[in-house]
Amino acid sequence: EQIEKGGYEHFMLKEIYEQPHAIRDTYRGRLLANEGIIRMSGVENHKEKFLNANRIIIVACGTSWHAGLVAEYIFEDIARIPVEVEYASEFRYRNPVITEKDVVIAISQSGETADTLAAIKLAKANGAFVFGVCNVVGSSIARETHAGAYTHAGPEIGVASTKAFTTQITVLTLIALKLAKEKGTISNSDFHYHLEQLELIPDKVKQALKSDEHIKKVAETYKDATNCLYLGRGYNFPVALEGALKLKEISYIHAEGYPAAEMKHGPIALIDEQMPVFVIATKKGHYEKVVSNIQEIKSRKGKIIAIVTEGDVDVKKLADHIIEVPETLESLSPLLTTIPLQLLSYHIAVMLGKNVDQPRNLAKSVTVE
Ligand code: G6P
Repeated sequence: EQIEKGGYEHFMLKEIYEQPHAIRDTYRGRLLANEGIIRMSGVENHKEKFLNANRIIIVACGTSWHAGLVAEYIFEDIARIPVEVEYASEFRYRNPVITEKDVVIAISQSGETADTLAAIKLAKANGAFVFGVCNVVGSSIARETHAGAYTHAGPEIGVASTKAFTTQITVLTLIALKLAKEKGTISNSDFHYHLEQLELIPDKVKQALKSDEHIKKVAETYKDATNCLYLGRGYNFPVALEGALKLKEISYIHAEGYPAAEMKHGPIALIDEQMPVFVIATKKGHYEKVVSNIQEIKSRKGKIIAIVTEGDVDVKKLADHIIEVPETLESLSPLLTTIPLQLLSYHIAVMLGKNVDQPRNLAKSVTVE
């Protein structure tokens, strides 16, 4: 096992550090930036299904559901296709309206999650076209879908999902860009720019990982918190949910993710000097609005830990701690802002002496309801 961990103390840490490589493996052979094309046979062979779809329904559970939420932003924003993101467990029992004009995308690292599998069987039975985004090759969901795209993240052993999440977002981004190009909802120059920026992501993830020592110190400061709040807006709202989930899963600290603007409808009541609030406040993503949310937290004496774009000045003046990530397009920012939140949860859990790779009560793959 020590050999499999490749010198890292835990699989989770190894998998966090594998992300630059894993993301590159995900787009290798698909993203051809110089030629200005995206090659994905699963999409190409069923192009008409995607282009004629009334909507895309994404079904997933856990972290994969969060990747689905990020995808909702990019599909709607860039490809102008309406998207609904569903918990597979709710969808399957809701007597949902499904038609032949629906494209259902199932996202699953393991490809074995019972609820997701049942949701796609239901969708197929109702005539929908079902596409899988799985990591495990030959898994049940991969076999049960009409077509799909693997994430190629390599085996993920840590129960808390890390590289599966960022590679799912990478695949879904490629699909959204490809469809946007086909539909003409993105200009040629924007399309090329997106491809170039996506190609730069692995190096930027590497850069983000360099904050590890600093993040460890932040973790030390907040490891004894009993409640934490995670806030983000737009593309980074799902990242806030995922950040909170990571903390809960492995450190057993209660954490909630919220859209930053929704804070005033409830969570703000919890904020006092004991409450760490992790805010994703990168440039481009409604930055000024997030800054004013941060001011609201500060005036209630909450502790602010902000994930910001390199060189940020405004948030720096307000926050107790900042963690920088490189600049990128807003649509690609979740691939970077996720990294410090993964590391933070990891370090807190290690400091608290928790079983990081196999947290209590959780399973890597949930094959029963
Ligand atoms: C379990 C795992 C999570 C995962 C979820 C969905 O809860 O612990 O890490 O996100 O299942 O799994 P899937 O394999 O379908 O992505």
